[in-house]
Amino acid sequence: MGNTVRLDKYLTDMGVGTRSEVKTYIRKGRVQVDGQVVKGSDIKINITDTQVLFDNNIVQYEKFVYYMLNKPAGVVSATTDNHCTTVVELIKEANSKEIFPVGRLDKDTEGLLLLTNDGELSHQLLSPRKHVAKVYYAKVKGCVTEEDVQLFEKGVKINEEFTTLPSVLNIIKSDEISEIELTIYEGKFHQVKRMFLAVGKEVIYLKRLSMGSLKLDETLIPGEYRRLTKEEIDSLKSS
Ligand code: URA
Repeated sequence: MGNTVRLDKYLTDMGVGTRSEVKTYIRKGRVQVDGQVVKGSDIKINITDTQVLFDNNIVQYEKFVYYMLNKPAGVVSATTDNHCTTVVELIKEANSKEIFPVGRLDKDTEGLLLLTNDGELSHQLLSPRKHVAKVYYAKVKGCVTEEDVQLFEKGVKINEEFTTLPSVLNIIKSDEISEIELTIYEGKFHQVKRMFLAVGKEVIYLKRLSMGSLKLDETLIPGEYRRLTKEEIDSLKSS
């Protein structure tokens, strides 16, 4: 975004509504620019100097936006795709911000996904050297045992060249279909599924619960999202 921008684009980028919603708000006189009600969406404002109010509340300029999505199954972790709906397309209010998912969840995986336009934070969270903890809940075909807990604690070989870092496996239920929580500190392609395959078991449902300090807001049903709170953003940046 340059320093000057159309009013409707500014309001859309700051998450006030979709482009057509904000145009309606402007027409209805709900938006003030430097103390004056304005009715034209194409008015140019300066993002650092102009004061914009919506329903009498300041619409503060934010360079970066952060969304937590409860990713539903069937959606791909990409910005665009020729065949499937992408996670970025689900974040309706960010349509003109260049957001991207921080890392990937498989198409059939649900749960916590962070989307942002903050490349530096994304890099921090994904850097293999940072060992950011990721917690997953899974349903696994077959009895998950204490032996698996030990194996995961040592690290398991998921292909010819790669053995995982030690991970923490908590068994919630051990049965024909087991339920577990697994904490891993890296993010190889299909890592959780491949770790279970390495011990002869199949993940049949996978959901991410947390990434670093960020925890999935369980009030979000799959497909829903919300902006991160200031506390959540600060805590992610400082960890
Ligand atoms: N591990 C997997 O196997 N799949 C995911 O989507 C995330 C972690």
